[in-house]
Amino acid sequence: MQEKELIISEIMMPNQANVEGNIHGGEIMKIMDSCAYAVTRRYARTNVVTARVDELQFHQPIKVGDLVICSAKIAFAGKTSMEVYVDVQVEDLRSHMPPIPALSAYFTMVALDRNSKPAHIPPLEINNEEEQVEFAAGKARYEAYKNKRHNEVKNTNK
Ligand SMILES: CC(C)(COP(=O)(O)OP(=O)(O)OC[C@H]1O[C@@H](n2cnc3c(N)ncnc32)[C@H](O)[C@@H]1OP(=O)(O)O)[C@@H](O)C(=O)NCCC(=O)NCCS
Repeated sequence: MQEKELIISEIMMPNQANVEGNIHGGEIMKIMDSCAYAVTRRYARTNVVTARVDELQFHQPIKVGDLVICSAKIAFAGKTSMEVYVDVQVEDLRSHMPPIPALSAYFTMVALDRNSKPAHIPPLEINNEEEQVEFAAGKARYEAYKNKRHNEVKNTNK
């Protein structure tokens, strides 16, 4: 079975926060990027870089002392690129409440060879209906991004 999911968790520290104890958005984005990197680096078994991050909206404040649980799952794989769904939950360790959703985003990661050129990756195995739906949605976004880039290049060359 392919390894296409990974979870990392981290307790938020004062050096990651503003003066009121709110964790900087960039700190959370860094954890998300690391999680997307790790899952795709392991999948591709070669270097990977972030090519795109879709919309990010922070639904919950994250405070010093909170546990951030970040999970990443590869939803779609093209020839050299992978789309990863990254989800962040936050748990207040002073309470008995379960973790709550804080934000999520899709990251596109591209595998690179030793010459930093896009490198081919294994096809993604689909194991159930849910993964089939995620794959189809990922493919639709991949094609839309490709068309958008194509049109941007065309407009630049006009
Ligand atoms: C991402 C990067 C490797 C793409 O290189 P490129 O020569 O444009 O590659 P290609 O056009 O052949 O595209 C390669 C794959 O990446 C995908 N891709 C490229 N740019 C993309 C973008 N902006 N959004 C989504 N997917 C993208 C393509 O769809 C293609 O996927 P496929 O092989 O599965 O069909 C290159 O733009 C790069 O190195 N960017 C900087 C990455 C980086 O440093 N990130 C860290 C931020 S500091």
